[in-house]
Amino acid sequence: MAEPTTTPATAFPGRAVVTGAAGFIGSHLTAALLRNGTSVVGIDRRDPATAPAALTDAAADGSPLHHHVRTDLLTCALEPVMQGADVVFHLAGIPGVRPSWGRQFSEYVHTNILATQRVMEAAARTAVRRVVVASSSSVYGPAGGTPSAENALPQPVSPYAVTKLAEEQLCFAHAARADCPTSVVALRYFTVYGPGQRSDMFIHRTLRAALTGQPLRLYGDGQQRRDFTYVDDTVAATVAAATAPGGSGIVNVGGGSNASLRDVVDIAQSLTGREIRIHRVTVCPGDVPATLADPRHAQRLLGWKPSVDLRSGMFQQLHFLAAQEHRATVGHGEA
Ligand code: NAD
Ligand code: UGA
Repeated sequence: MAEPTTTPATAFPGRAVVTGAAGFIGSHLTAALLRNGTSVVGIDRRDPATAPAALTDAAADGSPLHHHVRTDLLTCALEPVMQGADVVFHLAGIPGVRPSWGRQFSEYVHTNILATQRVMEAAARTAVRRVVVASSSSVYGPAGGTPSAENALPQPVSPYAVTKLAEEQLCFAHAARADCPTSVVALRYFTVYGPGQRSDMFIHRTLRAALTGQPLRLYGDGQQRRDFTYVDDTVAATVAAATAPGGSGIVNVGGGSNASLRDVVDIAQSLTGREIRIHRVTVCPGDVPATLADPRHAQRLLGWKPSVDLRSGMFQQLHFLAAQEHRATVGHGEA
């Protein structure tokens, strides 16, 4: 795995709680915090050892600074876990734009909104100084290809995006109470990728199609553009948000490479030397044509700029995925 891109100047908190710690971004964040001496309590419904993101990271493996609580945020007692934490990184969530239309919508509401309410109540009661919450570029809606600044009017066009907007605004409502000692930084992540990326996401599926020869399902014409953001860059911004000066606010975490889905396919083909078979299907409702972050506020507030370009980041993800596929094949062979 690539070395973390956090600069030496980044201040790491002494004690942190990470919700969603067994997830894609949460597991990278946990590993980076542990590598830099932060004591971490991870909370997740899943066991990080068996989660799909499963990083084989020595820092997270058996570290005396690491404690994982496998539980549901909707029901567990949160105050004992948060006691003494300098920061809560609230990354647990039900992600994914397309499935949010159907019966699963109640799950989005439960975790993205109701669990967030519990997190904020517990953080305020235990006087946690800062909550950093994972919001989403999807709250902007179709931005017409122009850069989205944090003060743009949100126009979410999927049920998922509506819950993410509600999630960040709910956090701000708590933080605005006169008796709340907690400030909130909501990070609007833009399509994050890298080793361990969720298997429903496009770059994962493209690299997998290249490795296995199975067809890639492409929604629409492939001209959709995303501000693809490498996971180590995302983690660097997230850590910086823990100690960012000032009070509550929103920060875009996006960029590194603005590219189309066709560009992603081309890079995957060139990295693997294999042709990808494409199966075109109708574009899904709620899928925006383009995202593009206005990066200026992140630069000013966090001193953060993305540093990994799409080809280098996809190379790291391909390496991870190939090793995972290899372990699965060998495992099956031995069974
Ligand atoms: P992920 O699904 O890999 O991780 C989320 C984790 O939250 C999972 O491990 C899941 O088990 C856990 N979780 C969900 N509900 C829970 C509950 N009730 N109690 C305990 N644990 C629970 O997703 P990810 O891609 O790592 O995304 C992390 C966060 O970032 C999410 O909030 C997502 O909405 C947001 N986000 C992600 C992206 C992206 O491109 N990946 C972009 C924008 C925003
Ligand atoms: C991603 C994450 O999945 C969301 O959790 C997150 O909130 C969002 O980024 C964000 O930036 O806020 P998305 O941009 O839709 O959402 O990322 P992908 O799921 O990787 O999809 C990217 C594009 O590829 C979309 O246009 C989608 O339609 C397309 N796609 C995806 C396919 O053509 N085929 C697939 O199999 C998967």
